[in-house]
Amino acid sequence: MAKYENWRVHEKKALRYAAGRTLDVGCGGGRISLYFQKRGFDVFGIDISPLAVKVCKLRGVKNARVVSITEVNSKLGVFDTILMIGYNFGLFGNPARAKRLLRKLRQLTSRSALIIAESVDPYQYQGTISSRLSQTQSKQGQDGW
Ligand SMILES: C[S@@+](CC[C@H](N)C(=O)[O-])C[C@H]1O[C@@H](n2cnc3c(N)ncnc32)[C@H](O)[C@@H]1O
Repeated sequence: MAKYENWRVHEKKALRYAAGRTLDVGCGGGRISLYFQKRGFDVFGIDISPLAVKVCKLRGVKNARVVSITEVNSKLGVFDTILMIGYNFGLFGNPARAKRLLRKLRQLTSRSALIIAESVDPYQYQGTISSRLSQTQSKQGQDGW
């Protein structure tokens, strides 16, 4: 898993805006949850993949649970920051679902909450997105996430 020094510059810049209780949506192996946890944040990672959540726990993430973005609800509590890093804005799937899920996220966020999301414009790239990801990964010499 990429070390902080190897994270992409725009990620590091965006993550500086995180504050308060933080929901890491699609937390993967927990690199971001772990980073914030070590800095004293109350961070909660969710991922649809039981294996990803297992990895999070093995790596020391205290709060990680198998939950799909489609299942988020107020039982998770109230958050001040929602993270959707690693192109996870794409987890919305399509505009209609994005609208519905953003409404849901609103129910579990404080008034001044921020969503810090990363996305990709497929029309900006030559070739396929998966080939771009592979290039990024091989540049980083690891899986990037
Ligand atoms: C590209 S990885 C990003 C991991 C992490 N955010 C990072 O930047 O290191 C995307 C993650 O989203 C998870 N995922 C996919 N669909 C999801 C869904 N519907 N709800 C929650 N997580 C999902 C995948 O299992 C995967 O771990």
